[in-house]
Amino acid sequence: MPAAILRPSVAVIVVAAGSGTRLGLGQPKAFVSLAGRPILSRSLDAIFALDDETQVVVVVPADRVEQAGDIVAQVAGAAVGYATVVVGGESRQASVEAGLAALAESVDIVLVHDAARALTPTAQFASVIDEVRSAGRGAVPGLPVSDTIKRTDGFGLALATVDRSELSAVQTPQGFPRQQLQRAYEFAADEFTDDAALVAAAGFEVAIIHGDPLAFKITTAWDLRRAEQELAPAPEHRAWRTGVGLDAHAFVTGGPGHPEADADAEFVGTPEAAPVPEHAEELWLAGLFWPGERGLVGHSDGDAVVHAICDALLSASGLGDLGSVFGTADPRFEGAHGDVFLRHTAALLAGAGFRIANVSVQLVTNRPLFSPRRLEAQAVLSAQLGAPVTVSATTTDGLGFTGRNEGVLAIASCVVHPAQ
Ligand code: CTP
Ligand code: MG
Repeated sequence: MPAAILRPSVAVIVVAAGSGTRLGLGQPKAFVSLAGRPILSRSLDAIFALDDETQVVVVVPADRVEQAGDIVAQVAGAAVGYATVVVGGESRQASVEAGLAALAESVDIVLVHDAARALTPTAQFASVIDEVRSAGRGAVPGLPVSDTIKRTDGFGLALATVDRSELSAVQTPQGFPRQQLQRAYEFAADEFTDDAALVAAAGFEVAIIHGDPLAFKITTAWDLRRAEQELAPAPEHRAWRTGVGLDAHAFVTGGPGHPEADADAEFVGTPEAAPVPEHAEELWLAGLFWPGERGLVGHSDGDAVVHAICDALLSASGLGDLGSVFGTADPRFEGAHGDVFLRHTAALLAGAGFRIANVSVQLVTNRPLFSPRRLEAQAVLSAQLGAPVTVSATTTDGLGFTGRNEGVLAIASCVVHPAQ
């Protein structure tokens, strides 16, 4: 690794020389894989994303210098000139000290960061740097403690409850004016678990700023799993696709059960020239048969609810539309009921690798009165599609073709996502 060749004013010492005993995977923790890349590599992502020209000193076990160099080079890219790898010591404190010895002369703000806090966001580094720079004192990120904390006798007996409003669970990076940190290290008599304690013991002020829960330390297998989960892609959410579909069908003129049809001479349900197919004499809507209601005209059974659902699903998954998939010339679909369309559409989506999250349909019509059979319709449609379908119904206050009882309108929307 080349030593720093430029003149950075900020340095981050990344301590990664621990053995990872509590993680128990038989290798130094920073080199354990986290979602396919070493923990160290993940930690460096946030650091090399900083705006400032920053010297990065990575402290590792003696037998890992070469491997760490490769990891750093990979993440740093062009910024590799600012990176140094050094060998750590027996304790964390000794490792930080080894890092301090490698600082470039130009550096006046030093951050110390645990590689084990692999998901710490860049913003947390930036906030620490800002605070140290503006206040001229140490700054450490901390989170309020939410559990009730007990002082114990060391043998399992609770002695007292500690006032948690006075507590902060501190994280890294911890940042300091270089002079203060170096001086604290020069005179450190005891071992401390963090740098803030050491600097405070040397008599310097350290401020606590807001931390981020993502900066948690990977210590145990449970923590590693949590970090893996944080990084896991959530395809069901990220790859959601929505679709919308609309269909309208005209009522057959003068069908049974509709006094309006006979009374209203102006009513035009079907163009006069078009013969009314036999199957149009029954009403099928939202997957249900509606006895005594006037039927809808269509190549199939005219179930606008089902057709709108299929259009929405085909659109969401990019598989075309109703006309292109179920051609009107295809005799298989003549007079077909909703189940044929729904099952076929569901199979097409499954074949293309999509799963249906839900479908919602708005039906617009005066007849039939939908609400008494809404739940039944939803159950039938959901069963035929193999995904939840909900249907709501409304009228248009006498406006438009649905208001004039000329036909029905249905609008469907859906969400689909890649099946896992
Ligand atoms: N660390 C270090 N040198 C040491 C000990 C610890 O650089 N001699 C680093 C670790 O690599 C880690 C950070 O300090 O990034 C915090 O330490 P900890 O979480 O305790 O890590 P380990 O010491 O590796 O884990 P364990 O205590 O379970 O062995
Ligand atoms: Mg340790």
